Amino acid sequence: MKILVTGGLGFIGSHTVVELQNKGFEVIVVDNLSNSSLNVLDGIERITGKKPIFENIDLREKSAVQNFFKKYFDIAGVIHFAASKAVGESVENPLLYYENNINSLVYLLQEIKELKNANFIFSSSCTVYGQAEKMPITENAPVQQAMSPYGNTKQIGEEIITDVAKVTNLNSILLRYFNPIGAHPSAEIGELPLGVPQNLVPFITQTAIGLRDKLSVFGNDYPTADGTAIRDYIHVVDLAKAHVIALQRLLNHKNLEKVETFNLGTGTGSSVLEVITAFEKVSEQQLKYQIVERREGDVIEAFANTDKANTVLGWKAQSSLEEALASAWKWELKIRS
Ligand code: NAD
Ligand code: WQD
Repeated sequence: MKILVTGGLGFIGSHTVVELQNKGFEVIVVDNLSNSSLNVLDGIERITGKKPIFENIDLREKSAVQNFFKKYFDIAGVIHFAASKAVGESVENPLLYYENNINSLVYLLQEIKELKNANFIFSSSCTVYGQAEKMPITENAPVQQAMSPYGNTKQIGEEIITDVAKVTNLNSILLRYFNPIGAHPSAEIGELPLGVPQNLVPFITQTAIGLRDKLSVFGNDYPTADGTAIRDYIHVVDLAKAHVIALQRLLNHKNLEKVETFNLGTGTGSSVLEVITAFEKVSEQQLKYQIVERREGDVIEAFANTDKANTVLGWKAQSSLEEALASAWKWELKIRS
């Protein structure tokens, strides 16, 4: 069965390609290499023994998207990761984000709705909840005004898919990720942030390896037990496996609604200081850090209620925070060696 994975050379996409190939799916990756490299194909091959088909296509080019679906008319499902994802950059350059994240989605859906099997999985984000009132966050928590153009593209994306599904044969699952971290345990693939990492875990591993002087902890005056902000850090391999399960749900017509939404997290919140302590344990070294001001736009806490994912989707995160951090550290050591 042919599955299209857009952004399949990126962080979450590449791990998902591995899990799909492990389950025997024939994967076609579309990526424009704007935030990834061709070497990822070799890493995937070293893990699975197989290179996916690769098409270097920019999804902002409508005719290229149309031509792709003329060539691969028998696609059974699409997992759409391709997007720009840097929150700060989206504030600086909103049109880049609206063009990439919205146009690409629209061009894809225009073709997918014509397929015999219009199955579509969308990478959404817990950012749609903003600062939710109640923890843990259920899928019914209200979507709040987006804090950045990036976050807005996820909200608009969800709405576009919902509108299209109402009037076409599109079936879709919206997956709202909490904070994906880690790397494949083989250290053959992992996260490759361009420039200075904005996210906590790559900043920690780059500090530990000596690429960065010290980590800045953004605020210790939050109303949490140790004063630092709380997130739900989920191992990228667990996240990747959820995509395969969601895809199978659509392929087997097990979805109860045309558009279903699931939170993907562990259900456990960890503070920044807890992440640092866990990292120090698995890496057996002390991390240099200092407390600085809060980062603008950060929420106090966000962690998932995973009941719906556990019971309806039939998926549960397996890895601990330590395991995820150990895999991130192994990856950092490998790419710098
Ligand atoms: P990533 O940047 O590693 O992967 C995205 C991939 O898409 C890259 O390989 C990039 O080259 C490709 N791409 C971007 N624009 C493209 C275009 N126009 N045409 C073709 N390819 C294009 O990002 P990721 O962390 O793997 O995230 C994947 C998805 O998950 C994104 O939609 C992101 O918004 C979403 N998401 C990520 C996180 C996170 O923290 N990483 C959290 C929630 C949601
Ligand atoms: C985690 C915690 C920081 C860096 C972002 C996006 C979100 C989603 C995931 C895509 C926070 C603290 C961080 C540092 C720190 N992406 N921190 N020092 O902010 O939860 O979410 O990535 O959808 O949309 O906003 O993740 O990893 O940046 O931060 O103290 O150098 O670590 O303040 O509390 P975040 P993060």
